Amino acid sequence: MNIIRVKDYDELSEKACEILRDDIKKSAGCVLGLATGSTPEGLYQQLIEAYNKGGISYANCTTFNLDEYVGLASDDPNSYRYYMDEKLFSHIDLPDDQAFLPNGFAMDPEKECRDYEALIKDAGYVDVQVLGLGLNGHIGFNEPGTPFDSRTHVVDLDESTRQANARFFHSMEDVPKKALTMGIGSIMESRKIVLLVSGEKKADAVKELVNGEMTNEFPASILQKHENVILIADEEALSKL
Ligand code: GLP
Repeated sequence: MNIIRVKDYDELSEKACEILRDDIKKSAGCVLGLATGSTPEGLYQQLIEAYNKGGISYANCTTFNLDEYVGLASDDPNSYRYYMDEKLFSHIDLPDDQAFLPNGFAMDPEKECRDYEALIKDAGYVDVQVLGLGLNGHIGFNEPGTPFDSRTHVVDLDESTRQANARFFHSMEDVPKKALTMGIGSIMESRKIVLLVSGEKKADAVKELVNGEMTNEFPASILQKHENVILIADEEALSKL
């Protein structure tokens, strides 16, 4: 794992943008895997700024998001589709029909998962996957105990994950109990993974990620096995290494 140490969150976002830009600029197009949560917000701002300055176009990109809550419509402000529209898609020239998220409102979630896998395969798999890190080591919504070879599937969210994400909802009861997520096996097929971690509260998780044993009780530990992972982390997140 290649670790890039940065001073703070702003530098983390700039560095991540710099790395992604090179892939996005490839004329043949680029398949990007995208994440939600607070950590990639700064990166998305940087990507918008790069577009506004005229140095970059997303017209040849295809994007696949990692996950989506079950039961939230795309116009629900807490759905990840809404998040992506607000924080990135509506500000850049990525064509609507090239931006994919699992549909949390699908009548048949299992079929939705199979279809999502097929779409990723048809696009030629993900070139660069942006990842955040959950406090319990989750990636996407792959909670502890998820098999390393899992594909896109429906998950029951951990109470700890629901609590960590409750800040975005009116009350704890409003936080969905299920989600659709790309599996760990699907994520591991990405050619390159850019993992973003910021802040002191993630320091224990980073320590486990880098020095812990590889176990599905800490899903992100599988990344130790991937040949092309770049961890961009700030000083606070790296403080326990
Ligand atoms: C959520 C998302 C993950 C994200 C994680 C960390 O549960 N499903 O994809 O990486 O939380 O979020 P944050 O960046 O807000 O700490």
